[in-house]
Amino acid sequence: MNDGEPSQTALQVAAARAAHLRFDPPPHLLEDRFAELLLGADAERSISAYGDDAPWILLENRLFLPFRARYAEDLVADAHGEGVRQLVVLGAGLDSFALRRPSALADLRVFEVDHPATQRWKRRRLEAIGDPLPDGLDFVECDFETTSLSDALRETDFHADAPAIVSWLGVVYYLSKETTARALAELRGLLAPGSAVVLDYQFPMESLPQRYRDVFAQQSAWLKGAGEPQVNRYRPEALQAVLIEAGFEQAELPERGALEARYFAAIGSKIRMAERFGMAVARVGSARQSTARSST
Ligand SMILES: C[S@@+](CC[C@H](N)C(=O)[O-])C[C@H]1O[C@@H](n2cnc3c(N)ncnc32)[C@H](O)[C@@H]1O
Repeated sequence: MNDGEPSQTALQVAAARAAHLRFDPPPHLLEDRFAELLLGADAERSISAYGDDAPWILLENRLFLPFRARYAEDLVADAHGEGVRQLVVLGAGLDSFALRRPSALADLRVFEVDHPATQRWKRRRLEAIGDPLPDGLDFVECDFETTSLSDALRETDFHADAPAIVSWLGVVYYLSKETTARALAELRGLLAPGSAVVLDYQFPMESLPQRYRDVFAQQSAWLKGAGEPQVNRYRPEALQAVLIEAGFEQAELPERGALEARYFAAIGSKIRMAERFGMAVARVGSARQSTARSST
């Protein structure tokens, strides 16, 4: 990230979530009405970049980025039904789940953890919007490259002896493999049985269709300029091994076809699920039956 600036990719993700609501017909994967508000003065320019005449990769993002949030939020709702009352949003960016969650989840404690530069920017935007913040929302500053998450959470009311869901969306491809493995091992050590970590990841470029390789140079140049180069990609079986190596008892890596059927086809989306991303759920000591690369 560029010094003192909020994450530019976090702003892009919010723009895609707002654009999904604006340009795609209902039903929506996610109704994030805060995304546009949080973007502030720049909202119009950044959202319109995802209009119907946008390059195909932005159209894919217009569906995939709301989808991955919805996928994590479904997991949170299921876990809440099983008694989980803590959510840690790692690298939260402009995530607004804490603000728009259903009232049934009002008793969920939410810890938004992010790089200080992004989080301070977001908090200024929230102040400008002026809505009262919900009870049970904590902001935690942490640079994953230099600070231990456990140390950062230790300063809060996070209960390490109670289960939690950790959502880690849109982050691991910006971290080195070593940082990711270390953070996962740390999370496994921190989390109580019944906890789960949900994350998305990207596949190696050589395993992707040609159209991704065609736009790679342009995409990489933009990300480098934003100070957020993507440095980390996994094949599903490699990520599964990393999750098990970190100590998680189960690692579910759902197949794209199953996700498409459950989410994209269910809303009649003309835009298909991006082929470059995968989702993963790593569970701590759960009795749930699941297998690697299972369908959901
Ligand atoms: C692509 S955004 C994703 C934001 C959010 N999870 C979402 O899906 O809308 C990446 C996020 O990772 C955070 N991030 C990147 N590097 C980080 C680091 N070293 N420490 C903490 N946060 C980091 C950024 O501040 C940003 O909020």
